[in-house]
Amino acid sequence: MSANELIANLDKLGDEFLSVIQPLSDEQAIRAAQAQFLGKKGKVSEVMKELSKLPPADRPLVGAAVNKVKQTIEEQVCRRLGELTALAAKADLARVVDVTLPARPVPQGHLHLLTQVRLEAVQIFSELGFVVADGPQIETDWHTFEALAIPKDHPARDMQDTFYLSEEIVLRTHTSPVQVRTMLTQAPPIRIVAPGHVYRRDDDPTHSPMFTQIEGLAVDEGLSFADLKGVLIHFVSRFFQKELTVRLRPSYFPFVEPGAEVDMQCSFCGGSGCRLCKGTGWVEIGGAGVVDPDVFAHCKIDSEKYTGFAFGMGLERMAMLRHGVNDIKFYYEGDVRFLEQF
Ligand code: DAH
Repeated sequence: MSANELIANLDKLGDEFLSVIQPLSDEQAIRAAQAQFLGKKGKVSEVMKELSKLPPADRPLVGAAVNKVKQTIEEQVCRRLGELTALAAKADLARVVDVTLPARPVPQGHLHLLTQVRLEAVQIFSELGFVVADGPQIETDWHTFEALAIPKDHPARDMQDTFYLSEEIVLRTHTSPVQVRTMLTQAPPIRIVAPGHVYRRDDDPTHSPMFTQIEGLAVDEGLSFADLKGVLIHFVSRFFQKELTVRLRPSYFPFVEPGAEVDMQCSFCGGSGCRLCKGTGWVEIGGAGVVDPDVFAHCKIDSEKYTGFAFGMGLERMAMLRHGVNDIKFYYEGDVRFLEQF
């Protein structure tokens, strides 16, 4: 065969390939056709065998024609595969996506139960004019105990109850030191609430080494125990969304005088007696009292002029009473099945 004949044959192979793959509609068949033309025993290779029989001067021309047909075939393979992919995507779109269907719900987080309860408590107190105050969780012995008239030999200072970081530094065991920090930096009238973490060496179903309290403090001229009781009654009624009363049981906290344990009417049975309140109709929610003049003295507040009241409550307990949570660990384990419920 002459060079010209070979070149004409090669051109024909290019056209032939096009007509072979155009009707094919899957990749495997297209690849097989490609092999039939470009494979070792393919049609193009057959033509190339003739190449060696040509006079050397003619070979480059035919070689170029071989390269051209190879390139053409490869381009056609790419083009056809691209067409098929586009067709498949279009079909998929028509079949799978019904844009009128409602979207699938996207899982969404929400505030932790304790955060919800904290924000709600703060909201209720803020309606009464209380603002949020803050203090460190790593606190001095002085702010935590000394300034609150808790003497060195008080059981609360026992190594059994308090995490000591050093002789003078503790993890605060209650939010009451925020009272001290506030009174040292603000002049009366004062009305603050201080929610935050506190730490004690305690661990059982109703106690955790870390838990959350909310502290309240009001200092002004002429404040009385009655104001304290009014604030607490308002708080529990708003928080539990029903009219509940509060009972103040005489008790002793070194930093208040008189001091009281705060009980509220059981929110489950309304006071008639149930398992939750152990049949008494009352549940304990915290401590409270009238600020001891000793504490005022530590904080440079004139106890002749001002009086004040303070209270402290556990937020885990409030959440428990509101939602029936029966193990304090649930709050901290991060189990989504628990958290999702609130
Ligand atoms: N700090 C006390 C505790 O953690 C609770 C408390 C009692 C806070 C009486 C007060 C209060 O402000 O007046 O046990």
